[in-house]
Amino acid sequence: VNNSKVAVMGASGGIGQPLSLLLKHSPLISELSLYDIVGTPGVAADLSHIETRCKVRGFVGAEQLKDSLRGVELVIIPAGVPRKPGMTRDDLFNTNASIVRDLAQACAEVAPKAIIGIISNPVNSTVPIAAEVLKKAGAFDPKRLFGVTTLDIVRANTFIAELKGLNPSQVNCPVIGGHAGVTIIPLISQCKPAVQFPQDQLKALTERIQDAGTEVVKAKAGAGSATLSMAYAGARFAFSVLRAIKGEQGVIECAYVKSDVTEASYFSTPLVLGPNGVEKNLGLGKLSPYEQELVQASIPELKKSIEKGEKFVNK
Ligand code: APR
Repeated sequence: VNNSKVAVMGASGGIGQPLSLLLKHSPLISELSLYDIVGTPGVAADLSHIETRCKVRGFVGAEQLKDSLRGVELVIIPAGVPRKPGMTRDDLFNTNASIVRDLAQACAEVAPKAIIGIISNPVNSTVPIAAEVLKKAGAFDPKRLFGVTTLDIVRANTFIAELKGLNPSQVNCPVIGGHAGVTIIPLISQCKPAVQFPQDQLKALTERIQDAGTEVVKAKAGAGSATLSMAYAGARFAFSVLRAIKGEQGVIECAYVKSDVTEASYFSTPLVLGPNGVEKNLGLGKLSPYEQELVQASIPELKKSIEKGEKFVNK
């Protein structure tokens, strides 16, 4: 039966609202719990009028945080401030680190078995932050904690399809590593269907995928970062997790998880999902020499961001 209960933390925001709309529309979900520090009663009332079976409840303010997480199987976290032009994702650390820490703490206490997907940036650091908080509470299961990097895959698919005149929904390009700048590594050699580019075009495509978030930040001219495409990607990730929970075999998504595939202790690779989260890490696969270079370049960056997150919790 499709009776999953899902929570969105930061549900009144630019990502949270359209993400909640997509989730409300899904037959996989029977109950949606919307938490934010402002606005969730209104968002929940609005969404609750939509003629789908899924029940929606709004929870607002710290005193309702724990209630918002009771009985939840999947928690998606887009809470936090977004980028403005000129900012990197790491510039958000000071504000978003404590938001993610506090939400992870509440998950550890109220929904220790929930699968958690973190959207709040910098994802390369906020996932280790959540992991350290969960560890301290004795609730860390590396199979159940994900940084949502799905938008990088969605972008790679779209841009490759544009260049090759393909239908984007039929393109599937893994993107590995992390979720910022040079840590975003599209594996174009593993794209399905197979595509080929001359080296200069391959480099330009790779860089466009790495900088695609900034493309949106610039176009929004101070009004924030990607929200609608991120909401789509967050929903795609949530649906994959829920389909796997319900027993569908062979669901694969790339996501940023605890990993021993490279020297970086968190790394995104294609993952087979199952009822308990990660069932199998499919690793790097066969990399081209160019992709091997990109992986090498990402490791020091990732290590720095991971250490920064871990130190924030353990200071
Ligand atoms: N708990 C819950 N929600 C919070 C908290 C908190 N402690 N602090 C802030 N929020 C809420 C805000 O009230 C707001 O509704 O998070 C929401 C964020 O929404 P926006 O400011 O519109 O930001 P958005 O564009 O959705 O991006 C959110 O996702 O992709 C990342 O980099 C992006 O880190 C940013 C996050």
